[in-house]
Amino acid sequence: MSNSIEGKVVVITGASSGLGEATARLLSAEGAQVVLGARRLDRIQRLANDLSSPVGKALALATDVTQYDQVKNLVDAAVQAFGRIDVMINNAGLMPNSPLERLKIDDWNRMIDVNIKGVLYGIAAALPHMKRQKAGHIINVSSVAGHKIRPGNAVYAATKHAVRALSEGLRMEVKPYNIRTTVISPGAVATELPNSVTEPDVAESVHKIYEVAIPAESFARAVAFAISQPEEMDVNEIVFRPTRQDF
Ligand SMILES: NC(=O)c1ccc[n+]([C@@H]2O[C@H](COP(=O)([O-])OP(=O)(O)OC[C@H]3O[C@@H](n4cnc5c(N)ncnc54)[C@H](OP(=O)(O)O)[C@@H]3O)[C@@H](O)[C@H]2O)c1
Repeated sequence: MSNSIEGKVVVITGASSGLGEATARLLSAEGAQVVLGARRLDRIQRLANDLSSPVGKALALATDVTQYDQVKNLVDAAVQAFGRIDVMINNAGLMPNSPLERLKIDDWNRMIDVNIKGVLYGIAAALPHMKRQKAGHIINVSSVAGHKIRPGNAVYAATKHAVRALSEGLRMEVKPYNIRTTVISPGAVATELPNSVTEPDVAESVHKIYEVAIPAESFARAVAFAISQPEEMDVNEIVFRPTRQDF
């Protein structure tokens, strides 16, 4: 695996909007071959077409990260098309926050399925290839909510704490295979994430918090920083916030 971004094969889940899309655009501009997964195929197909012209290479595959077979298919397609997988970015996620007493059990289940199981399935899909290659980089997306809990975001925060726990366990376990691991914890970044809130009053307070949100390219630059370090350097954890964010 080369040290720069150029030529790296990067698989991104949740690439149809927000952080995933911005990352695909930045890494592709830096010469990476990106493989895009999300449920909205029209969006990722358009993005792949954009990124594939005039140069560059991009693939798009409809992927629901709650289905292990679909995540495996995404990663296997990357390896089949480009011969390897250098970076797996487990980014897909949602944040339908609400106070626990409202018993929004469907929302809890969706967060657990996408934010935790989706990350696990991404790890499961990429790991066998990376072990064989004796190289690779797994990037998981946590959140400031993976460090701090606030009233109304207990389940989301729990899923993002879980992502940090999984990332740290993974970091130690994959040492023998020369695999790098990074967990990135963004603060408020301007994406479609607040639209996943289902409770109107909670949505209003989330939109207030997001008044200070910074552009999605901020996340993409953090990813580019981690990926572009020399292979001997493993950037394990990045936390960033808008300068104006106070929690
Ligand atoms: N924006 C922030 O302030 C912020 C802060 C901290 C952490 N994060 C984390 O960053 C990640 C990306 O979120 P975002 O801010 O970019 O929000 P976003 O614009 O809403 O993007 C979420 C992405 O996840 C995908 N997704 C949702 N459910 C999925 C499923 N079942 N299977 C496959 N893909 C699925 C969506 O694609 P489809 O709907 O097309 O499937 C979409 O591409 C999430 O993990 C989020 O928790 C965001």
